[in-house]
Formats: sequence, C-alpha cells, structure tokens
Amino acid sequence: MKGPINPLKGTFWKKGEGDMEKEEGIKISNPMQAKRNLGDPYGKGLLSYHHGKKNAEFIVESDIAVTETWPISLFFRTFDEMPKIEKKALQNVNGKTLDIGAGAGSHSLILQEKGFDITAIDISPGAIEVMKERGLKNVFLADFFNIDETEKYDTLLMLMNGIGIVGNINNLDSFFFKAKKLLTENGKIILDSSDLIYLYDDFEDLPEKYYGEINYKFIFDNEEGEEFPWLFVDFRTLEKHATANGFVCKKLYEDEHFMYLVELRLG
Ligand SMILES: C[S@@+](CC[C@H](N)C(=O)[O-])C[C@H]1O[C@@H](n2cnc3c(N)ncnc32)[C@H](O)[C@@H]1O
Repeated sequence: MKGPINPLKGTFWKKGEGDMEKEEGIKISNPMQAKRNLGDPYGKGLLSYHHGKKNAEFIVESDIAVTETWPISLFFRTFDEMPKIEKKALQNVNGKTLDIGAGAGSHSLILQEKGFDITAIDISPGAIEVMKERGLKNVFLADFFNIDETEKYDTLLMLMNGIGIVGNINNLDSFFFKAKKLLTENGKIILDSSDLIYLYDDFEDLPEKYYGEINYKFIFDNEEGEEFPWLFVDFRTLEKHATANGFVCKKLYEDEHFMYLVELRLG
C-alpha cells in the first residue's frame, strides 16, 4: 500500500514495504500522559516552530508505519491549507464549541475569528502555551476524560483523527459517556477518523487486537516521548458503539485517503 507521509491523510507507508520507499472522572488510560511526564517533546516541537524554527520536524515512530518525519508546520495549517474534510468539519460547527485535543489551535483560531464561543483544551503544556501566544482566549490544560462537567457545549470538535485520544476500542464507551455529560440537549460531536483496513491485503494478516489500535512515539530534538496508543476506527465500529450509547451517527464526508467525517447526535 502506498501513500503520502502525511498524518492529515489517512494513508501510511506500511512497515516492511521498502524503507522510505519512499503520525477525576472516568478512569481510562490517558494516551499522551506519559509524554507529558517525560517533558512534552511534542509541545516543545510546537513551541519551537511557533518561535521561528519553521523547518522543525517531529520524528514519529509507530507500530504500523515506517518511521516518518512530520513537518511541524502541519499543525499550523491555515484554512486554505486544510484538507477538505476539515473545511467541512468547520462548516458544521455551531454554537458554543469545545475543541478537544486542539494542538496548536489552528481550528480554534479560525472559529474564534469567525466569532464563535470556542474553548480549546489539550494535555500538552507546550500546546497550551502556543495557543495562548497565538491569541486564543479560552485555552485550558485539561484531559478530556477529566474535565469539569458543569459547562455544556453545542459542538464537541475533534480533528486530525480526533477520536484517536480514546486510545483503544474498549475506551469508546467511556468516551461517549463523558461526551454525553458535556453536550447541550441538541448538541453534537464532529470528529474524523480513518479505516485502516486498506493496509491489509489479506484477512490473515490482521493483528489479534483491533487493527486500528496503533502505538505512537514522538521525538523532537532528540527528546523521546513515551509510546502512547491512538485509535483509528472504522465507521461501522464507531456507529455500533455510538448507537449503543444513544447517539445517531451520520457520515458527513469521506475522502480519497480513507478518512471520514461524522456528526454524532443524541437520538
Ligand atoms: C493529532 S493531534 C491533533 C491536534 C489538532 N486537533 C489538529 O488538528 O492540529 C492530537 C492532540 O490531542 C491531544 N490529546 C491527546 N489526548 C488528549 C486528551 N485525553 N485530552 C485532551 N487532549 C488530548 C494531544 O496532546 C494532541 O495535541
């Protein structure tokens, strides 16, 4: 399987396909917690780019793809540079919005400029600093799974394989449980993901665990983060868990890179 090395597209160079032939509430495992404990190389990378090192890159290791380099500029994309799936996502946002895992805040900034009531959260202290320096007004260092439930939102936004933060399939139900508590009555979740089945030519090659459960490691400036789990989920599996948790799952868009965008509303 061939594909561009670009986390904004759901395509990977799979391992073994030629070297570079050349991404206190409910207790669940926190995918990027360890990275924070180890000094937040991801956040440092974002800060370094933001402070002028425009050619800065992450080295990204995973158990599915060959080691890649990701230009950090990817996290600072403008609206024009965003893939169509993200433009569609932004068009579907309404009301008071929570950008979950906001990173460098690129989506939040666009929404803030358009006059939305937008709050951005992330677990990376470096990412939070970057977002504040970029001018975002409501930014909080917070783990989605532990955030306070008194504030309610009309839209929960999760982009760049945003559902990945749940880490593995078993945590999907905890995710929906928490999301329900954060949504207004007519609120919705807008998220993207990718079905990695295209990486497997043969059913027999599928791993024992769910094939979209990937372990990642970020390295920046020789500083290694801890490995963390990230979930890519196929639409049917997402829909099954959504339905079981009272959500109606509607596919809004699917692109040529196997990525799809969904809207989830309480039925
Ligand atoms: C793939 S990046 C996407 C960043 C941004 N949404 C974008 O599209 O550029 C995922 C982000 O989620 C954050 N994250 C991971 N687990 C999280 C959690 N439990 N709660 C909040 N943010 C989390 C990471 O620190 C990271 O910034």
